[in-house]
Amino acid sequence: MISIALLGFGTVGSGFYEILKREEEKIEEKINDKVSIKYILVNDLSKNREQISSDTIVTDSFEKIIADENIDIIIELIGGETPALDYIKRSLSAEKIVITANKLLVANYFKELIKLAEKNKTHIFFEASTGGGIPVINMVEDYLAGDKINELHGILNGTTNYILSVMEKETVSMPETIKKAQALGYAEQDPSSDLGGLDALYKIVILANLAFSCAVNPEDIYCKGIKGITSYDIMYAEELGYKIKLIAAAKREDSGLRIFVSPFLIKKDDDFASTVGADNSLEIKSENLNHLFLKGPGAGKFPTGNAVIFDLIKASRFLLGDYKKSRSKKFNNIKINRKSDFKQSFYIRLQIEKNDSIIKNIKSMFDESNLADMILKDGSSDTPLLPLIILTRKISIQKIEKFMEYVENINGVLTINNIIPLKE
Ligand code: NAP
Ligand code: HSE
Repeated sequence: MISIALLGFGTVGSGFYEILKREEEKIEEKINDKVSIKYILVNDLSKNREQISSDTIVTDSFEKIIADENIDIIIELIGGETPALDYIKRSLSAEKIVITANKLLVANYFKELIKLAEKNKTHIFFEASTGGGIPVINMVEDYLAGDKINELHGILNGTTNYILSVMEKETVSMPETIKKAQALGYAEQDPSSDLGGLDALYKIVILANLAFSCAVNPEDIYCKGIKGITSYDIMYAEELGYKIKLIAAAKREDSGLRIFVSPFLIKKDDDFASTVGADNSLEIKSENLNHLFLKGPGAGKFPTGNAVIFDLIKASRFLLGDYKKSRSKKFNNIKINRKSDFKQSFYIRLQIEKNDSIIKNIKSMFDESNLADMILKDGSSDTPLLPLIILTRKISIQKIEKFMEYVENINGVLTINNIIPLKE
């Protein structure tokens, strides 16, 4: 009998539990042992959780769980740093196998948690931390173990992809769509982690750590989310033949690794353009496979619950001795190249007073620096204000931001609303 303690019974915890109950016989046959959820740890004991069977102890005391020597596997699905980090560390120190969906902790404490697991001859599994229902961790860590990965990039946050997809179809504000994403269980407890790009950043850091055997510090990475993007940007991008997507990328370069998270304008026929709703997609470029594209549900109760079941099967094999070692102890020191060195084209939206001489001034500034390919103006509105759209030639983010500071000082230029790179 494999004894489990489940920490957290929210979107993912309840999804995992319901799948386990529904497919119990098949899963136990696969594991070749019985599985028992002995404890479920929650915050609020007064909530109705009638689906939990009577032989499971629902508690708000982690102390009770950690004191039980018969627990084999602890599944952390609380989220956030406190108290989850403490619970994971104490579980590993007590030689329990840990399964977690907590990308914040895996990304920020990658080396520490893996070393702690090794020191205690146990293991930490985190398939559900990245890619929702798509087995991207397994793909990078095990399936491509004999390959050399050169690049990973993709859409790794379901909430922002859902928000951008809804805003493409309906004229709704971002706050309204955030509420919908929360109701569907996609968003983090603090949705600013999704919107600000941090959630995607944690996921690309985890994938890069596995792909390039390193332990990247998330704080070293350029990260920009979708906070300032409005229906106007989506509409103008559409007119130019683009969609807006939040892309996370990690690429091996001669001098180190380039990792970043940023919204991009991508061509409508780009593979990533068809990733809609809360779906995620990941493109892996490697020596053996050359090119691999994965797409599927990136968040939600059952897709993520399914990833936890997958880890449970792996964890059970580890427990039964079939799977004693899978993670390398080596962490290469790799230089992180700054995103600002990289040249790309940009979409720029600015708001100006409706006056042809202002447009002429801006145009000549761009022409003198040979910076812009195209300037579009939307003169359809009757207001005295005019949105102006500029597509630049290739330049670094640092240089274009500096240049736009000068543009902002031109008389009649009211605001620089957005500067978004174009995906090649
Ligand atoms: P959630 O719905 O907010 O559920 C959190 C659960 O943890 C709740 O059952 C809550 O108890 C419990 N909890 C909170 N604080 C606690 C504390 N101090 N002590 C004990 N229990 C506590 O979160 P979720 O969406 O399932 O996410 C869980 C984890 O999975 C996070 O790390 C998240 O990033 C990750 N994840 C989520 C998704 C997704 O689609 N949602 C996908 C992939 C990964 P109560 O029920 O009593 O409030
Ligand atoms: N908040 C996360 C997302 C959950 O929207 O992608 C899945 O990791």
